[in-house]
Amino acid sequence: MTEKLVLPGPASEQLGKAVADKLSFPLLKAEFKVFPDGETRFTCEEKVSGKTVLVVQSTCPPVDTHLFQLLLASHQLSQEGARVVAVVPYLGYARQDKEFLPGESVTLGVVAHLMRFAGIRRLVSVDIHSAEGLSLFSFPAYSVSAIPGLVDFIRSELQLSDPVVISPDLGGSSRTEAFAQLYGARFLKLTKTRDRVTGGVTLQEARLDVKGKEVIIVDDIISTGGTVCAAAEAMTKQGAKKVLAVCVHGILVDDAASKLKRAGVDAIVSTNTVPGEFSRVDVSDAIVAHLKTLDE
Ligand code: R5P
Repeated sequence: MTEKLVLPGPASEQLGKAVADKLSFPLLKAEFKVFPDGETRFTCEEKVSGKTVLVVQSTCPPVDTHLFQLLLASHQLSQEGARVVAVVPYLGYARQDKEFLPGESVTLGVVAHLMRFAGIRRLVSVDIHSAEGLSLFSFPAYSVSAIPGLVDFIRSELQLSDPVVISPDLGGSSRTEAFAQLYGARFLKLTKTRDRVTGGVTLQEARLDVKGKEVIIVDDIISTGGTVCAAAEAMTKQGAKKVLAVCVHGILVDDAASKLKRAGVDAIVSTNTVPGEFSRVDVSDAIVAHLKTLDE
């Protein structure tokens, strides 16, 4: 059986260690050194030839730095003869998976090429923005779902009586619907349009039956908070008694968390694909369960 090791990258140290621990794989002895100007050097003196190395690194902000660190380590390890499996719990650039405006780069396609160039042989991510994005990879690429873990957490940690689950837009509504089904709650959806030039979000007015209800807004990503704020404001205006914002990837740039609170959100829950204040749900079990199904 091939020897397997785990390299937790700088963006996912705790999660990488949890994955290694649960699989009983040793950690690879290697170093990422970040210089004062932001450049990274990767060094690994351990012999990895013929071994499989799981490089665990979310490409969350600073996205380009974390992406480059993933590529750098993967390239070095594959050059040294390792079979590299990239475990990228949050895959940055996954939203740019097609040309939305004429002349735009399909950034996820570029990421896929770079990963291949770096010698990555498999990719395992968590709730990639859209399953279509996986087809841009010319090597096996998988997305694991964090939704069951989020449902378990909300059910056990928050005392909700009869919540309604809301999708803030149509794009990610199947993920939100899966959440509602697992929870056993009513599912409703809103329609959002995003101005592709300014990035601004507009919600189409729709009356939903949420008066006096606890509302759980579920999205894959909360970045600026614009999408969930628009949904939360609409739900509050329509009489919701409590609003929870639940996401897989809580990027929450700048003052996104305060914006959500001002928009009427009572609590924010995310997973540890992006470590932060609201990362209450651990995705290591979901990743490990998937890794165990992979062949040699
Ligand atoms: C977009 O389609 C995604 O599913 C999220 O709704 C979006 O990325 C959230 O971004 P923001 O928090 O900046 O509105």
